[in-house]
Amino acid sequence: MEVVIVKDAEAGGDLIAGAIADLLVRKPDALLGVATGSTPLPIYDALIAKARAGSVDASRARICQLDEYVGLPAGHPESYRATVLRQVVEPLGLPAEQFMGPDGSAADVQAACVAYDRALAEAGGVDLQILGIGTDGHIGFNEPCSSLASRTRIKTLTEQTRIDNARFFDDDIEQVPHHVITQGIGTILDARHLVLLATGEGKAEAVAQTVEGPVASLVPASALQLHPHATVVVDEGAASKLK
Ligand code: F6R
Repeated sequence: MEVVIVKDAEAGGDLIAGAIADLLVRKPDALLGVATGSTPLPIYDALIAKARAGSVDASRARICQLDEYVGLPAGHPESYRATVLRQVVEPLGLPAEQFMGPDGSAADVQAACVAYDRALAEAGGVDLQILGIGTDGHIGFNEPCSSLASRTRIKTLTEQTRIDNARFFDDDIEQVPHHVITQGIGTILDARHLVLLATGEGKAEAVAQTVEGPVASLVPASALQLHPHATVVVDEGAASKLK
């Protein structure tokens, strides 16, 4: 695992957007896995700026979601489909055919999970997966004690993650769904390159356990230690508990 300490979130976003731009030169139709939440926004902003400036051609890039809430009405602005469309797909000017995600409103959620894993494989697999990290060490929505071999499946959010995400739902935890579909840890590890960005002191403990602790399902992000090409980009706050 490679750990890169950068000055701040913007520098982290620039660095990772640069890695994506390099990938798109080598493979213009690369499949990019995108996380949601606050942390990756500087990556998307930097990538969109590069595309608008003409320094990267992202027109053939394909985008796939990492996770999705279950049970939000179709088109809900905080569904991850709507969020990724708004933050990444539309600003890059990509057509809907170049974007895929799990169906959180499917009548048979289990079948939707299996179908999503199959769709990712049929698309040739994820080339670069962007990850954030929860304060409890989750990646995607693989909460502590998730199997390190897990595939895409339905999960129940912990109370802490629902509290953390209430800010996207008018600070009202009652509006935060209880269930999500998430790529499993095994699914995430199938990506060719994993890039985790963590910013701020609030993530410092989770980062320290991810990078320096044992590989353990109690800290799902520690599974990155098992991957042959994993990069952890942290700002000074998030790096503050590294030895
Ligand atoms: C969401 C996801 C989550 C977030 C994590 C951190 O798609 O993958 O694992 O990355 O909850 O969220 P932020 O970045 O908002 O602190």
